[in-house]
Amino acid sequence: MSRKAPDRVTRVGIIGTGVIGGGWALHFLAQGLDVVAYDPHPDCRQRFKTMCDNAWPTLVRLGLRPGASVDRIRFAASLEEAVANVDVVQENSPEVLQSKIDTLARIDAAAPKDIVLLSSTSGLKMTDMQVKCQHPGRTVVGHPFNPPYLVPLVEVVGGDQTAPEAVDWAVAFYTVFGKRPVKLDREVPGFIATRLQEAMWREMLHMVNEGEATVQQIDDAITFGPGIRWAITGPGMNYHLAGGEGGMAHVLDQFAPSLKWPWTRLEAPELTPELRAKVIDGCVAESAGRSINDMIRDRDAYLISILKVLRAPPELT
Ligand SMILES: NC(=O)c1ccc[n+]([C@@H]2O[C@H](COP(=O)([O-])OP(=O)(O)OC[C@H]3O[C@@H](n4cnc5c(N)ncnc54)[C@H](O)[C@@H]3O)[C@@H](O)[C@H]2O)c1
Repeated sequence: MSRKAPDRVTRVGIIGTGVIGGGWALHFLAQGLDVVAYDPHPDCRQRFKTMCDNAWPTLVRLGLRPGASVDRIRFAASLEEAVANVDVVQENSPEVLQSKIDTLARIDAAAPKDIVLLSSTSGLKMTDMQVKCQHPGRTVVGHPFNPPYLVPLVEVVGGDQTAPEAVDWAVAFYTVFGKRPVKLDREVPGFIATRLQEAMWREMLHMVNEGEATVQQIDDAITFGPGIRWAITGPGMNYHLAGGEGGMAHVLDQFAPSLKWPWTRLEAPELTPELRAKVIDGCVAESAGRSINDMIRDRDAYLISILKVLRAPPELT
């Protein structure tokens, strides 16, 4: 079988159907594709059904592609069976380098020789994961954001042995099927968005550790503040607009001297058992008795509303 054009793809192989793999499966089903899935967990079908019961009504509200149906997923008995007859594979196994190396090598050995193999890794380099593949040229990172069925971004990057055409194919594939890919020029630890999130997470842990703020205060500060703006302007444009007529140049010239200290003073905090407990307790307190599934449904409902607004922006000058 030769590689299909991205817009001719009809069947996707999903390896690992946890939070992210299950989310990808829902996304591709909503896009009107067939999905063949594999997960070694004995309850994988039931777990996927629960995810589907929560999320499918939300996807219906957002709008399904013609032919989309939850019945178009089939669970295979083995990884090899799941990838034997598909047009592309999205791998979502646990984030452990050796396991990723072995899983990608197994997928590579069993999948049609020309199809592109995508990995959802959130931080590992494809250069390190593709080492046991016979055809590493077709292995590409396609890093989604949770939940993959709603958040449009996928960060796309190859490894040292990846062919540039495979990266371009992945970008085209994701674009055709409802995602907003950002292609990286080279491998960067944490890619772009995760790296930025990690910096914020580090500062959150510092503040909780030092008793400077609670989880609730930190979450409120972001969701009622910069979080709202970030749906429209990223950190670059945000500061550019904050500089008035002088834009980013004015912001940098004005604030850089006083920001040198906050930019450089902090190392990563030690994740002690006490800090771990404080952060977890803070999340539980903020949940106020709501279950994770209830909160996921609420989150998804808000995300849908935001996506609808972004699809139909107000009249721009
Ligand atoms: N959770 C996130 O927010 C997030 C975001 C982006 C990317 N990712 C990446 O997605 C991948 C999966 O993460 P997750 O959060 O879905 O984890 P998860 O624990 O929810 O799911 C992992 C699934 O893989 C299955 N599995 C275990 N061994 C396997 C194997 N050998 N072959 C196939 N499946 C196997 C498990 O049974 C489980 O269902 C990781 O690489 C992670 O870095 C996660």
